[in-house]
Amino acid sequence: MRRKLAAGNWKMNGSASALAELHALLPLLPEMPPDIVICPPAPLLYRASAAAQGTPISIGAQDCHMQQSGAFTGDVSAAMIADAGATHVIVGHSERRDAHEESNGDVRAKARQAWAAGLTAIICIGESGDDREADNTLDIIGGQLSGSLPDHATAANTVIAYEPIWAIGTGVVPTLDQIVEVHDFIRDRLITRLGGEIADGIPLLYGGSVKPENADTIFRAANVDGALVGGASLKAADFAPIIAALAQS
Ligand code: 13P
Repeated sequence: MRRKLAAGNWKMNGSASALAELHALLPLLPEMPPDIVICPPAPLLYRASAAAQGTPISIGAQDCHMQQSGAFTGDVSAAMIADAGATHVIVGHSERRDAHEESNGDVRAKARQAWAAGLTAIICIGESGDDREADNTLDIIGGQLSGSLPDHATAANTVIAYEPIWAIGTGVVPTLDQIVEVHDFIRDRLITRLGGEIADGIPLLYGGSVKPENADTIFRAANVDGALVGGASLKAADFAPIIAALAQS
């Protein structure tokens, strides 16, 4: 059975006081919760990890550097993230691919660093609105997946998040058919590359305007194993119903 995962990406939001949301989430969780990962900004990783100790919540970072260590002022390595108590790291988010011009090769190198530090890499891929309109979605997704995923991925070290750029922070969500098409395509590509046994265990998350109101529908798709949630992960009252919908799916 593939594990289900609800991941929250706080992006550049939240201060120490926001960690109260972790505590607020606990009494709202279902009896058998799915895996839950919250990815706060880097300065909060240590405190968030301490706050989540002994709870069903794990902590992840939003990015790591593609080198192990060195003269990279302002950057954070995968080993530092692990040292702060986190277990996951998002790599290749479209906001970083865009604003920091990260290539598939960069994302692949970051995922390798994540694995070397013992972290699970949440590798993000997703097409732009222009790609979608030009009917290039599967070409783009196929290219990003093959370029960003290092060899030797396993169900323990890798999660793939499909986040169509046009759905992020817009309130616009693809139809279920559109999500199903891309997620089935990703699963097929993983099977071809890794073999069925490994590919079947890798969770595929959908991300982009996931809310309590639409989570139920999104989680109906067989190859949707969870969500990478931005805005609606900031408040326990919004994230909890999404987690509950996943647990029931
Ligand atoms: P929103 O849920 O705010 O659309 O953000 C999605 C996202 O980018 C998560 O990584």
